[in-house]
Amino acid sequence: MSDATDARLAAQYEAYPYPRRDPRDEAKRLIVGSPGHLREVDYWVFGAQRPASRPLHALIAGGGTGDATIMLAQQMAREGRAGTVTWLDRSAAALKIAQARAAARGLTNIVWQQRSLLELPGSGLGPFDYIDCCGVLHHLPDPAEGLRALLSVLAPGGGLGLMVYAPHGRTGVYMLQDALRTLAPADETPTARLDVAKRVMRHLPETAWLRRNGFLDDHVNGGDAGLYDLLLNPRDRAFTVRELHAMLAGEGLAVTCWVEPVRYDPVLLLPDPRLRARVEALPPLDRAALAEALAGNVSAHIVYCARADQPAERADFMAEDAVPVTRELSGAEIAGGIQPDGTITLVLDGLRVPLALPALAPAILRLVDGRRSVREIAAALAERGTGAEAFARAWRATFTTLERINRLLLAAR
Ligand SMILES: C[S@@+](CC[C@H](N)C(=O)[O-])C[C@H]1O[C@@H](n2cnc3c(N)ncnc32)[C@H](O)[C@@H]1O
Repeated sequence: MSDATDARLAAQYEAYPYPRRDPRDEAKRLIVGSPGHLREVDYWVFGAQRPASRPLHALIAGGGTGDATIMLAQQMAREGRAGTVTWLDRSAAALKIAQARAAARGLTNIVWQQRSLLELPGSGLGPFDYIDCCGVLHHLPDPAEGLRALLSVLAPGGGLGLMVYAPHGRTGVYMLQDALRTLAPADETPTARLDVAKRVMRHLPETAWLRRNGFLDDHVNGGDAGLYDLLLNPRDRAFTVRELHAMLAGEGLAVTCWVEPVRYDPVLLLPDPRLRARVEALPPLDRAALAEALAGNVSAHIVYCARADQPAERADFMAEDAVPVTRELSGAEIAGGIQPDGTITLVLDGLRVPLALPALAPAILRLVDGRRSVREIAAALAERGTGAEAFARAWRATFTTLERINRLLLAAR
């Protein structure tokens, strides 16, 4: 159901299509991220069990200026994967930019649908194997209704990739949204409201939480579209882990991955052995909620999920025919980041996460290329004198550690 606030939201994304993108930049770089990355969809949605040869039909609902659409369509084209990526959004301005980006890349596997995602039920569109909805549900009058609309076109055995805002990492945002509702009322034009916001930002008191919040930069680096989206959005709500879980469970969905998994594991945040024992006794949802509350830096939750009664069995990473694959960094590049003491340190929104890897990890990672199977990697190391048991131990530790940071996954069959 639409309302006056929703009409203002539509007007915002016509005036300031989001995110700000220049189609000429496609010649320089491909923007990649989560959700919607082909490797993640293959693994976290389909458990690396869905054949790469099977056509994949994806829907990017609320696709905006095209980041996820372009990423997925380009990745599929590059790998010769059959199927389509359907961009869907209400904004004509966003459509123009997304189409120009696709044209700049010569992509021909995108279908364009300018309409509301709430019209999906009965639309005749789909069914879709994968549905991506990034930064959209939290703007809708009723996010659960939006989710149901998406589920109405989800194919059996399919899955979703979602991003919704999270409260703690957005500390300061809602205070300023309150202030701007007073100074720049919602019934003024987007241009007039933006002008007020810019003036406020110039004189933001040094105590304002947004100034102290280093986890967000859209209002600084995102141009007019970024500033408007963060501080003047007519409606956005943030979900805690528990709130998101409740909404998903209410629609019969179960999370297959909180991205990155390590961010939702409080064990790393609490090295004290007595606390660790307590944490380890907690059910997974409580652990994830605890990690969110302790770290305080999560500004958005990214999840992959599937129907709770149709979970895709995940391929066994210990199976000899499993094929490990990395995302952007090659195996050799990841190996190069391992310190002499065997640790690799990741910085996630300011949180330093050191992870211990086995001594064989660099040698294993240099052999990971998305084509070699576990058997072939083991055989190559056996030639250098690594016994089967030593390999199995090291492979298990390497995979499980890097899987937690979403850097090492299994390729589609
Ligand atoms: C914050 S932007 C996110 C864009 C893109 N998904 C991304 O993450 O870069 C929100 C988008 O949702 C779209 N949107 C909002 N309500 C919608 C609806 N009911 N149906 C379709 N699109 C909608 C807006 O037009 C806007 O492009």
